[in-house]
Amino acid sequence: MEVKTSLLDNMIGVGDMVLLEPLNEDSFLDNLKKRFDHNEIYTYIGSVVISINPYRSLPIYTPEKVEEYRNRNFYELSPHIYALADEAYRSLRDQDKDQCILITGESGAGKTEASKLVMSYVAAVCGKGQEVNKVKEQLLQSNPVLEAFGNAKTVRNDNSSRFGKYMDIEFDFKGDPLGGVISNYLLEKSRVVKQPRGERNFHIFYQLLSGASDDTLKKLKLDRDFSKYNYLSLDSAAVSGLDDAANFRTVRNAMQIVGFMENEMQSVLELVAAVLKLGNIEFKPELRCNGIDESRVKDKNDLKEMCELLGIEQSVLERAFSYRTVEAKMEKVSTTLNVAQAYYARDALAKNLYSRLFSWLITRINETIRAQAKTRHKVMGVLDIYGFEIFEDNSFEQFIINYCNEKLQQIFIELTLREEQEEYVREGIEWTNIEYFNNAIICDLIENNQNGILAMLDEECLRPGTVTDETFLDKLNTICAEHQHFESRLSKNSKFLTDHSLPHNCFRIQHYAGKVLYKAEGFVDKNNDLLYRDLSQAMYKANHSLMKQLFPEGNPAKVNLKRPPTAGFQFRASVGTLMSNLQTKNPNYIRCVKPNDKKASHIFTEALVCHQVRYLGLMENVRVRRAGYAFRQAYEPCLERYKMLCKKTWPHWRGPAREGVEVLLTDLQVPTEEFSYGRSKIFIRNPRTLFFLEEKRKQCLEDLATLIQKIYRGWKCRRQFLLLKKSQIVVAAWYRRYAQQKKYQNIKKATTVVQSYARGWQARKLLRKLKHEKKCEEAVTTISAYWHGTQVRREYRKFFRANAGKKIYNFTIQRIMQKYFLDLKHNMPPMSPIDKSWPPRPYLFLEGVHTELKRIFHLWRCKKYRSQFTEEKRAVYEEKLKASELFKDKKALYPSSVSQPFKGDYLEINKNPKYQKLNNVVDEKVLLADVVNKINRANGKGSARILLLTKRSLILADQKTGHVKASVPLADLASVSASTQADGFFALQLKEGSTSAAKGDFLLSSDHLIEIITKLHRVSASFSEKEPIGLDISDEFLVQFKHDKVCIKFIQGSPKNGNNASCKRKNNRLLEVSVPVSP
Ligand SMILES: Nc1ncnc2c1ncn2[C@@H]1O[C@H](COP(=O)(O)OP(=O)(O)O)[C@@H](O)[C@H]1O
Ligand SMILES: [Mg+2]
Repeated sequence: MEVKTSLLDNMIGVGDMVLLEPLNEDSFLDNLKKRFDHNEIYTYIGSVVISINPYRSLPIYTPEKVEEYRNRNFYELSPHIYALADEAYRSLRDQDKDQCILITGESGAGKTEASKLVMSYVAAVCGKGQEVNKVKEQLLQSNPVLEAFGNAKTVRNDNSSRFGKYMDIEFDFKGDPLGGVISNYLLEKSRVVKQPRGERNFHIFYQLLSGASDDTLKKLKLDRDFSKYNYLSLDSAAVSGLDDAANFRTVRNAMQIVGFMENEMQSVLELVAAVLKLGNIEFKPELRCNGIDESRVKDKNDLKEMCELLGIEQSVLERAFSYRTVEAKMEKVSTTLNVAQAYYARDALAKNLYSRLFSWLITRINETIRAQAKTRHKVMGVLDIYGFEIFEDNSFEQFIINYCNEKLQQIFIELTLREEQEEYVREGIEWTNIEYFNNAIICDLIENNQNGILAMLDEECLRPGTVTDETFLDKLNTICAEHQHFESRLSKNSKFLTDHSLPHNCFRIQHYAGKVLYKAEGFVDKNNDLLYRDLSQAMYKANHSLMKQLFPEGNPAKVNLKRPPTAGFQFRASVGTLMSNLQTKNPNYIRCVKPNDKKASHIFTEALVCHQVRYLGLMENVRVRRAGYAFRQAYEPCLERYKMLCKKTWPHWRGPAREGVEVLLTDLQVPTEEFSYGRSKIFIRNPRTLFFLEEKRKQCLEDLATLIQKIYRGWKCRRQFLLLKKSQIVVAAWYRRYAQQKKYQNIKKATTVVQSYARGWQARKLLRKLKHEKKCEEAVTTISAYWHGTQVRREYRKFFRANAGKKIYNFTIQRIMQKYFLDLKHNMPPMSPIDKSWPPRPYLFLEGVHTELKRIFHLWRCKKYRSQFTEEKRAVYEEKLKASELFKDKKALYPSSVSQPFKGDYLEINKNPKYQKLNNVVDEKVLLADVVNKINRANGKGSARILLLTKRSLILADQKTGHVKASVPLADLASVSASTQADGFFALQLKEGSTSAAKGDFLLSSDHLIEIITKLHRVSASFSEKEPIGLDISDEFLVQFKHDKVCIKFIQGSPKNGNNASCKRKNNRLLEVSVPVSP
């Protein structure tokens, strides 16, 4: 179960000043101090939150804390800014009331921090989702950008907002943020050109110089060194705890998130750089012939760089710093500027440039964060405006700021003090009036249209003639002299004539928060906020789109001679709009208090706090709260809200609402002192009573919810049941129909089956019968056929035996032959004529055929072989064939000759020059030329001779000389003789009686015996038609040597002379040739 907690649990001091007892200023301060010392920086006065700046980070802003405060009643937990934020957000979401959060306090009291805390809390508790988160992120990230450009270090606050900011956060009906709109109020632009001692210029200048990359700085023509820039205060350039470089990155990142394009960021930085450059432009006087000093730019380098940066023509700007054109009634007058005026113009330009840039930034951010949808939004406004400021030197800016704070105090008084009291009176509630200081009179002093200070300042500014701050002060002194809150030394009010704390050039206003001394110096100028037209025109001419946008009045086409509204006038108008805007919303107050002047933690300066408590009117606030009632509500909504708590008013009360409420409260037994009946409203004194009612209501709502649930569930179930029943009937009807149909179909199917079986059975029976009959018929036919067959076969058997055997035999033989031939075809031997192979014979009876086929094949193969021969080759083979006929098996020399080719002309006599002479003698074709041995008939020794054979004759010539020894016509040759052995001897026997025979026969020996004899034989045969010369092969033959016949005898001899045969003369009649036995 949830543990109920309360504001009262573990309380340090009292959490709500309303409960303080006794109530006086001391106890009030004590309570604040006690709580502050215990890190309780928040204290309530009813629904107002007092926040004391702790000047250090406390662990009270964690996500767990957010969860703790989420959706809890305001008084349920210890005081916290989150409780206020939650209350505001919930009444915005649930009760559709626009809210505003008014944060007030001195500079440095923690207003800006408080506004950020409220925004971050709302961001944390409202809806989630991609789109919503983006919106939240953009809303939150607008802060760093605005702070960089609009905040600066002051003596009161290191991060002091130098502009007023009001932000409307817009929500849809669910409470999801849709966007926002930011309004800004009067940037303190004088800071751009001059800062009080110990203070700094706006953060962005320092951030840019320390955080930008070298590259960026180079592009912007800047130097990292602060001391190079006149506009930057140097004694406090570095602030401890402030990392300018890191912040620069944060700002760039935030600008990206808020939708700035890269080029826009660059443009913005260029303008910032331009302001710095502008500060460095210095002037010197130049004496003119008319004796007037005219200003000239001293060192043109910065001017040049600035012009380059913004795309301005240098001469135009230079001129604008030396001359001023005044236009009046279509007339243009150009006057020169002296050095002081030039400096004034320069600073005015810098201030305008910067403040316009700032306004543009806000417009640009608004473009991104503004809600897109046109539907009605709920709005929560957060106002963080500069706090009340009292400096050593207070000028126009402080005057304006303090005026704004006066107005805020007014609103506070209006809404909390005056209105509340007035309401009691109006409602007729018994009431003791409480005194409080109403600052309306101060507001009137400043803003009154006739004689208010601002009105008079405007009047001075618009008045023709010389106008100075002194004339302005004079005017004040006359007109405001009698005002209670205006003090001036020279006023007609003699009171201050001797007041030495009041210098002559100053006036003092008693603000609600204290007296402030204002120096009149600069009021007129600052209110005029004058920028020479030449300068704005020069800026408009810049080749820089952002610059052009910022100085629209510089457009020569739109010259406007009317004066622009003064700064004071503008501010008064915008504050007016703001106030009326705030009045339409439900206010929530955060009153920030500064515990000390040293920006230090843990120090609580009572005097300082006491002062703030007084001028903030906090005591009065408590008193009014205590005297009054915590809660009020008109009777109708009250009855509507709580009517369920009583049977008599539930569900409808017929009668006046007031009576209904009375009945209700009586029935609930609420003590009578806890409430009062007003005319139209019920007033409840204590929040606790309200909580009691709320608690009861919550319980009751739960019961009611259960009841509604119960009835709804019952109704839903009944409806469901009826629907089911109806459907069931339909389903059942359909199903029955379907089932019957199915059953019928089944029966029909079954019947058909049975029928078919019966028919089948009948048919089969018939078939069987018919088959049987058919079989019987067939059997008879078969039997008779067989019988006939037998008879016919018996008749024809004898014929069959005579023929069939022969046919089968022929058929078989045919098959065998066929097979044989096919086999043979597939196994043919090679085509070489010397190949002996032949496939084996398969059957004996094929022997003859087989051998014959082999022979035919061989002949055919030889014929094939021969058919490839050329004519010459044929002749060679014929010779070889002849040699074979002549010598085969007759002479032992023959086999060795078979492999030797018959060359014929061994000597090549027609080519060889040695035989030239011989060749000339022979006129016929030489068939054979060789060297042979001629055997001497006397001793059997051989001498070499050339043997030539032609068609007609045989010639023997000397081997060395080529001299013809003998030429024998072939016709004279009778025969040739040779031995049977392997020798080369042969004898040429001549015909008896022939002319050649006179010298006797020739006995020769040659290595080419076979060839010589074969050729001789062939030539002789072709030459004479008669028989060729005879060949006698035997081992003994006769040779006619001149007159004697000598017998040549061949014997087998031992191989004495090597392998050669030798010849020996034995006697007159015998010549013996011994032939070595061939191995
Ligand atoms: N709730 C807080 N917790 C911690 N420090 C705070 C808190 N409120 C203010 N401060 C400190 O005080 C300084 C000044 O606060 P700031 O909100 O800028 O003052 P203001 O806007 O009122 O001039 C901040 O910079 C911060 O250091
Ligand atoms: Mg601030």
